[in-house]
Amino acid sequence: TSRITVRDAVAATSTREDVSVLGWVKNMRKQKELVFIDLNDGSTAARLQVVAPSNLLRGVHLNVGCSVVAKGKIVPVSLASQDVELAASQVQLLGTCDPKKYPFKRGKIHGVEYLRQFPHLRPQTGVFSRVLRLRSAATMAVHRFFQDRGFINFHTPIISSSDCEGAGELFEIRPSQAAEDEKRFFSTDAFLTVSGQLHAEAVTSGMSAVYTFGPTFRAEKSHTKRHLSEFYMVEAETVLHGSGLSELLCLVEDLYKHTLEVLLKDNYDDINYFHETICSDEAKISILNSIERPFARMTYSEAMDELENAASKNSFHTQPQWGDDLQRDHELHLLSVTGQLPVFITDFPAAIKPFYARTLDSDTNIVSSVDLLVPGVGEVVGGSVREERETVLRDRLTRLGLLEKYQWYLDLRRFGTVPHGGFGLGFERLLQAFLGVADIRDVIPFPRYLGSCQM
Ligand code: 4AD
Ligand code: MG
Repeated sequence: TSRITVRDAVAATSTREDVSVLGWVKNMRKQKELVFIDLNDGSTAARLQVVAPSNLLRGVHLNVGCSVVAKGKIVPVSLASQDVELAASQVQLLGTCDPKKYPFKRGKIHGVEYLRQFPHLRPQTGVFSRVLRLRSAATMAVHRFFQDRGFINFHTPIISSSDCEGAGELFEIRPSQAAEDEKRFFSTDAFLTVSGQLHAEAVTSGMSAVYTFGPTFRAEKSHTKRHLSEFYMVEAETVLHGSGLSELLCLVEDLYKHTLEVLLKDNYDDINYFHETICSDEAKISILNSIERPFARMTYSEAMDELENAASKNSFHTQPQWGDDLQRDHELHLLSVTGQLPVFITDFPAAIKPFYARTLDSDTNIVSSVDLLVPGVGEVVGGSVREERETVLRDRLTRLGLLEKYQWYLDLRRFGTVPHGGFGLGFERLLQAFLGVADIRDVIPFPRYLGSCQM
C-alpha cells in the first residue's frame, strides 16, 4: 500500500490501486448500501470523498472530527461536484470524536472569534488550515526572494541585552528557580529580543547582505488588531552602494510583490478564499493593485502638509503636528489620498526615531528612514539607513547615556565602517494585508497578546 495525501489523491488523473489516506472526517452521509465520507488532512483545502460499503463500518461510531485511515482504490470520476473518489476496501477508525463535545459542528462555518477560543483545535478547521498553508508558502517565498539575491540568512539571538528600539517595551528574562540574589543569570540584564537589527548590522559588517526571519517580542500595552506580544519579523540588512534609502525602498517593494505573487500563483485557492469571503470589492482590488502598480512615496513633511490641510475637513482624534508620530487615522487618511496603494513615508524627524538612524547631510533634524503603510493594516515595514559615522554616532550615544553599553556597536564604525541600512517587516501584518484579515490573532497559530498566553 502506498500512503498518499489528500492533495495527491484529488490530483490523480488515473486509477491508483492500493493506496491509503489518513485524515479527519469533515462530513458524512449514509445510504443503505454505502457510506460517503469527506476526508481532509490539511495538505489542501479540497476534501477527498471516500466511498465505503456500509458493512465496512458496521458498529463503528464514525462522526465529524474522527481520524481514520481509508485504504482502497483512487478512481477519477467525471461527476461535476466530485472529481476523484477513494473506493474503500477498508476504513480504520484511529480516533473517536464525540459530536456533542466537539466544538466544531458538522457543516457549520464558525466565526473567527469562536475559533480563537480553541487555539489547540483551530488547525482542524478549513479556514485556519488555509491560513497555515499560506503562512508556510509565504515563509518559503521570503526565503527564496533573499536567497536569489545573494542575501545570507543568519539566526539572531532570542535572548539579548540590547533594547534595539529604545522604547523600553521589553520582556525581562530570569531563571525561575534562582534565589532573589542570583536573578542575574547572565551578569547583565537580559531580555527577549525586540528586533534582530543590531545583530544584523554586526553580521552585515563583514557579510554585506544578510537577513533573518524569527520571533521578536514586545511588551507593548497596545490592545489592537495589529499588535502581538510575540510576532515574526523579516529583517534585512545590507551595505548600500550610494543610492541610500531608495535602494531599501526598492528591496521592500520587490519583496512585498514577490511574496504576494507567489501566493496568488501557488496557493490561489487558499488566498482567493479570503478575498472572496471577507474582502470588500475595493479591498480585493487594492490587494491586487499592490502588485501591478508602483507604491506611492511621500516624505514625512509632505505627509504632514497633507494632514494639516485635511484637518479642517476631517476630525482626526489627534491634531497632526510636525514632529509627532503618525496616528492611526492619519495613516488611514494618507492611504486614501494615495488611492489605497501601499505608501512609503520617508525622512522622519530624528526625535521620533531610534538612535541608529542616519541623519541627512542636508538637515540633521531629519533621519533617512522609512515606514511602509499598507491599506487595511497601516505600518507593515519600518527601516532606515544606519548612522555609519563614528563621531556622529558617538555623540548621539553619549547624549542618550548609551555610550558604555554600545561600545561593541561603535566598534562596527571603528573597524571598516560602511554605508548600510535595512528594514524589519512584520510578517503577521503582511499576511493580514495579503488576506484582508482584520485581526492579527487570526494569522498566527498561537497568538500571545496583552492578557493572553493560552497553552
Ligand atoms: O518599526 P519596528 O519597531 O522596526 C524595528 O524593529 C527595526 N529595528 C527593524 C529593522 O530595521 N530591522 O518594527 C518593524 C515592524 C513594524 O513595521 C510592524 O510591521 C511589526 O514589525 N511590528 C509588530 N507586529 C505585530 N505586533 C507588534 N507588537 C509589532 N510591533 C512591530
Ligand atoms: Mg515602526
